[in-house]
Amino acid sequence: MSKSITLGIVGLGYWGPNLLRNFTQLDGCKVKICCDLSADNLDRAKAQHRDIETTNSYESLLQDPEIQAIVVATSAGTHHNLAKQAIEHGKHVFTEKPLTLDVAHAEELVKLAKQNGVKLMVGHLMEYHPAIEMLRNAVESHELGDIYYLYSQRVNLGKIRRDENALWSFAPHDISIIMYLLDSEPINVSTRGQSYLQDGIEDVVFLNLFFPGKIMAQVQLSWLDPHKIRRTTIVGSKKMAVFDDMEPTEKIRIYDKGVNSRPAYGSFDEALSLRFGDVTIPYIKVVEPLRLECQHFIDCIRNNEQVRSDGLDGLRVVKVLQAAQESLDKGGVPVSLEDLS
Ligand SMILES: NC(=O)c1ccc[n+]([C@@H]2O[C@H](COP(=O)([O-])OP(=O)(O)OC[C@H]3O[C@@H](n4cnc5c(N)ncnc54)[C@H](O)[C@@H]3O)[C@@H](O)[C@H]2O)c1
Repeated sequence: MSKSITLGIVGLGYWGPNLLRNFTQLDGCKVKICCDLSADNLDRAKAQHRDIETTNSYESLLQDPEIQAIVVATSAGTHHNLAKQAIEHGKHVFTEKPLTLDVAHAEELVKLAKQNGVKLMVGHLMEYHPAIEMLRNAVESHELGDIYYLYSQRVNLGKIRRDENALWSFAPHDISIIMYLLDSEPINVSTRGQSYLQDGIEDVVFLNLFFPGKIMAQVQLSWLDPHKIRRTTIVGSKKMAVFDDMEPTEKIRIYDKGVNSRPAYGSFDEALSLRFGDVTIPYIKVVEPLRLECQHFIDCIRNNEQVRSDGLDGLRVVKVLQAAQESLDKGGVPVSLEDLS
């Protein structure tokens, strides 16, 4: 086995400790230094991982020649600056979603990573979910037929964020799922939302995406909802599928339901017949998607392979988010991805 990859992690708030736990459990990598501005967060990490160095100076990660890659798990507004510095110091970068808060910054990171010959990966976690992989195969193999439309719900009560709205906080997951499943980018988006708890920060957002081939997608996002729902429904011409991530094991159901047309019949009523067939629940081996995501980053560095959720993928998601935000600001008017201002 080749030498292990040495990492630094910046950001140990809510999500960073999950990345730290996963990277420390992987073979072929070693977390050397963790960085956070909060002494309490560093103390907590140190209590669980005694052999890891801690610091509040990001510069010490950048200057450490042993650190080959940096994992950025700070708030979204800091991703561009921290990732840029890491790339310019020749480090591979894994940054949490969204890659940046605007398209120009995302484009800059993609360009810099290429120029510096380093990997740039974005934490589009759902692209590593075994259930999403299975659904993608069902779409690709045409098991569901032509895809008509999809809808996705990502709602719960809390965590209420102050530095980003529900769109930027939640939608990167759904946008990346939908684009990954369809292998396509939306033509335009239209978004409505409302701020109930904090002025100017939308707690509830309804996002509509329109794809080539008449495919529509709708995403409902909220941290002000009585239910915790993580569900995506896909309706195709042959079958329909539901992915429910709150189900512990039976995460996907494929419904052999649809509407058949019978061209031989004359009247409209007779020409369409409803089909109610079997429901299948495919077996999915339960593996933590975050573990697969972290392993992928390490494997891509070690084997110099193409990253699945690379900088370009991150850029595509940021483009949709920026267009969606523009539409939200303009009261829901459709915004074309080509016309981003
Ligand atoms: N993949 C997922 O499912 C998932 C889930 C939650 C959050 N996230 C993402 O993870 C990132 C972090 O979210 P969070 O909820 O943990 O935020 P958080 O605010 O809880 O934590 C951010 C941490 O970064 C530290 N920090 C900020 N700037 C720093 C700097 N310059 N140097 C060192 N430390 C710095 C802060 O002190 C804080 O501890 C976000 O991008 C978020 O979107 C991803």
